[in-house]
Amino acid sequence: MATLGIDFGTSNTAAGIAVDGAPRLIPLEAEAQTLPTAVFFDFEAREMRIGAAASDALLAGAEGRYMRGLKSLLGTRLMRERRVLLGERLDFIDIVARFLARVKTQAEAATGLHFDRALSGRPVRFHSADDARDAQALTDLREAYGRAGFDHVDFMNEPEAAAIANRAALRPGDLGLVIDIGGGTSDFTLFRQRGNDEIDILESHGIRLGGTDFDRSLSIGRVMPQLGMGSEIRHAFGGDTHIAPNAIFNDLATWAKIPFLYGPETRKAAAELHKFAEHPKRLARLIKVLDEELGHDLAFAVEAGKIRANGAGEAGDADPVIDVSMLKPRATLPLPRDWMRKRLSKLAVQMGDAAEATAQKAGLAPEAVDRLIFVGGSSLMAVVEEEMRARFPRAELHRGAALTAIVEGLALRAGGDERG
Ligand SMILES: Nc1ncnc2c1ncn2[C@@H]1O[C@H](COP(=O)(O)OP(=O)(O)OP(=O)(O)O)[C@@H](O)[C@H]1O
Ligand SMILES: [Mg+2]
Repeated sequence: MATLGIDFGTSNTAAGIAVDGAPRLIPLEAEAQTLPTAVFFDFEAREMRIGAAASDALLAGAEGRYMRGLKSLLGTRLMRERRVLLGERLDFIDIVARFLARVKTQAEAATGLHFDRALSGRPVRFHSADDARDAQALTDLREAYGRAGFDHVDFMNEPEAAAIANRAALRPGDLGLVIDIGGGTSDFTLFRQRGNDEIDILESHGIRLGGTDFDRSLSIGRVMPQLGMGSEIRHAFGGDTHIAPNAIFNDLATWAKIPFLYGPETRKAAAELHKFAEHPKRLARLIKVLDEELGHDLAFAVEAGKIRANGAGEAGDADPVIDVSMLKPRATLPLPRDWMRKRLSKLAVQMGDAAEATAQKAGLAPEAVDRLIFVGGSSLMAVVEEEMRARFPRAELHRGAALTAIVEGLALRAGGDERG
């Protein structure tokens, strides 16, 4: 009888418990402390792989169905859609449940404990503006934990967990702001250090915007035009042209939507576009991507390009590129740092607005904040740091563990093996 702390992230998942009052993360795959939130239904081996093994199988070209970013689908109607995978009719709640069940089994094998309860992270807002959808997302996730075999699940706002894990970064009386920029959401918690190892949470706030939105923006700006997005399509009758409709390209640039593009309707639409295209070469690439199911390969290439272009000019990365060799051998697309910064600045401003709104909601000025605590993989983006420094000019910046701060806090609150 024990509680497992789980940070089920859009991009990465981690699990942990407390041992002697300190968080202990549970290796979920080899020695790694985090696991890519990904599944791969391998049609040849007839099994579901998760984590890095899932991504490896995809990139090795194994035949199957890959999915990443499933958390973004929580609360949408797609969650209840059923499809046949390896001979079973599954909805997406089942798929999330199976992923969580693997995490549970692995954690039990690693610790020798039985986890009948979970303390799960949740974004402050799964969906920024839509309350009904936001509530449905939590219902969906709760149901997935149930189907995964947990008798009970409690939820904690992800940035509050990060605040607990990083409370020692504040001096007594200090006002801290957790800035958790993840794959799917940006989450904020304003808190005060009491001085007795306790904190007071003053306010939490969040928006549905994260690193996968950076990826989408870069893909739409750099990659999708090469596949025909925005190009002229002749009308079937007469000499007029129109612009290729954006829906397919938008979905192809969106991690969670990619698996839905490989049906016959999308292929048919792409074939039509190709037939009447002013630049048939570009639309031929779209057809190749759909035929060979290269959507995720492109998404990984964009993400890797983003991380390289964000890096501090180390040797060999002077001219960052997106590797699109899956489209054409050795092909790359330039991703200049300045272009990327400009391109992503609008999104960073929205994140900055949300961070400031957190202080506003608590009736405090940005100048009152003493420390910014940066966590989440996308807090490593230079555009995010610049934006937040400008918004909170008086605050000192503290970097928490980018990928594990949330699970550390959840582990601490979940307790350990002494709990009944
Ligand atoms: N070195 C890096 N530089 C820039 N971005 C990075 C870096 N490493 C990871 N990222 C980005 O961070 C994001 C993943 O961060 P993280 O694991 O914190 O998200 P998550 O917890 O899975 O998502 P969420 O909390 O939003 O559900 C991805 O978009 C990834 O591209
Ligand atoms: Mg996260």
